[in-house]
Amino acid sequence: MDFHTQVMAPGATAKLSADALLLVLVGDKLPADLDAPLANAVAEAVKLGDLVLKPGKTAYLRQVPGVKAPRVAVAVAKDASARAVKAAGNAGIALVKSLGVKHLAVLVAGTDTLGGPQAEALATAAADAVYLYRTTKPSAAEPPVLAKLTLLVAKGDAAAAAAGLARGAAIAEGVTLARELANRPGNHCTPTLLAAEARTMAKAQGLKIEVLDKKQIEALGMGSFLAVAQGSDEPPRFIVMHYQGAAKGVAPLVLVGKGITFDSGGISLKPGEGMDEMKFDMGGAASVVGTMLAVSQLKPKLNLIGVIAACENMPSGRALKPGDVVTSMSGQTIEVLNTDAEGRLILCDALTYVERFKPAAVVDIATLTGACVVALGAVHSGLFSPDDALAADLLAAGQAALDTCWRMPMDDEYDEGLKSNFADMANIGGRPGGAITAAMFLKRFTAKLRWAHLDIAATAWKSGAAKGATGRPVGLLTHWVLAQVK
Ligand code: BES
Ligand code: MN
Ligand code: ZN
Repeated sequence: MDFHTQVMAPGATAKLSADALLLVLVGDKLPADLDAPLANAVAEAVKLGDLVLKPGKTAYLRQVPGVKAPRVAVAVAKDASARAVKAAGNAGIALVKSLGVKHLAVLVAGTDTLGGPQAEALATAAADAVYLYRTTKPSAAEPPVLAKLTLLVAKGDAAAAAAGLARGAAIAEGVTLARELANRPGNHCTPTLLAAEARTMAKAQGLKIEVLDKKQIEALGMGSFLAVAQGSDEPPRFIVMHYQGAAKGVAPLVLVGKGITFDSGGISLKPGEGMDEMKFDMGGAASVVGTMLAVSQLKPKLNLIGVIAACENMPSGRALKPGDVVTSMSGQTIEVLNTDAEGRLILCDALTYVERFKPAAVVDIATLTGACVVALGAVHSGLFSPDDALAADLLAAGQAALDTCWRMPMDDEYDEGLKSNFADMANIGGRPGGAITAAMFLKRFTAKLRWAHLDIAATAWKSGAAKGATGRPVGLLTHWVLAQVK
């Protein structure tokens, strides 16, 4: 989708040519500076009871006298915050997205300033609304034809709004790519396909990419990652993408994504119900590819490396068994008490691998635990880090992106459950605090790193009627990366 800003006084908006005008009204009163034809139409709608000036309410008006755009959608926002404007934007866009609207103009009325965050929020809302999964569904409806969004702004807001739109546009592309990759079924989105898609993205953006195959992964000594992969007929892939926006010597930021393209649980087989959703278990990897795409479009002056460990977790005669002991790339041994706790087994080797980059900071992103779903629900991703400054940066990035996370504790006491009689550690603790023990497991591989872990088990996709990938946390990660420019 194309995003533009256009400088225009609210009193001139009726003359604008677009297929539809979305009027976001901030607050519970009609703004005084609104164009008379629009103001009259809104007042009429309120009078008729078609529109209530309360947050979340909308109205659809056609052929408003004196307004050039043939369709007007009105949506009420609680306040002028980016979050409220986005919520109203979502509601308003929903009214017009399935119509023949190619060009949507958006006016936010009732606030003196429209900043970058609001512009960004509207851009991501529009892109989110028009994405439709079609790849394996020939009967899917035609996707919305909405292709252009023009944000009407006052002169003083134009620069900030344009920057916000550009940020939103890049994030939207990253989110869309992440959603598409994660939505593809496991028999399509194999580790091989994930690597091919990462390569396509990297080539298009001029990024360097390396894809390691099983032999090369063996040569690196990733015994823990390979142990998970060994039960599947699909070969594993280890993907490394490089964005270079600063001098070679500048310490990079590193993102590490969990890329389990299907998680059956392995020999510790999962129950059947809902198991299809374990195709989304590469959501962390998808968010890394999406963030690399977004960042390479925004070109910040820093270096960023995206790493993905990708394989399937399957039961077979060759599969890893409960009680098996594996040797990680770090040399530490792991007793695998549950083959379904596989994410940490692939991430630990990826975390050891990235030591070689001497990173400024490392963030891993993983659909790691059902316990995190229970703890936080789908509102916040789980954030775990021993580093207060890094945690604060990620919390702030989440707020700025409207893609939030919540910090969880990492006291040493939580590590105790990982003791094993037969290896340096076990791969699971007890059920209590399961998201935290998973993080404590990873922490054992990060002594040389400034590191944080995001558990996106509840936020990477939705279940139920709206089943599908969300593209989270591409927004959070992109904001975090952008904020690290010195
Ligand atoms: N991919 C799952 C985590 C998951 C479960 C994400 C449900 C979203 C919804 C992960 O590999 C897993 O199976 N974790 C186990 C760990 C347990 C065996 C310690 C879990 O959470 O049940
Ligand atoms: Mn699992
Ligand atoms: Zn998993």
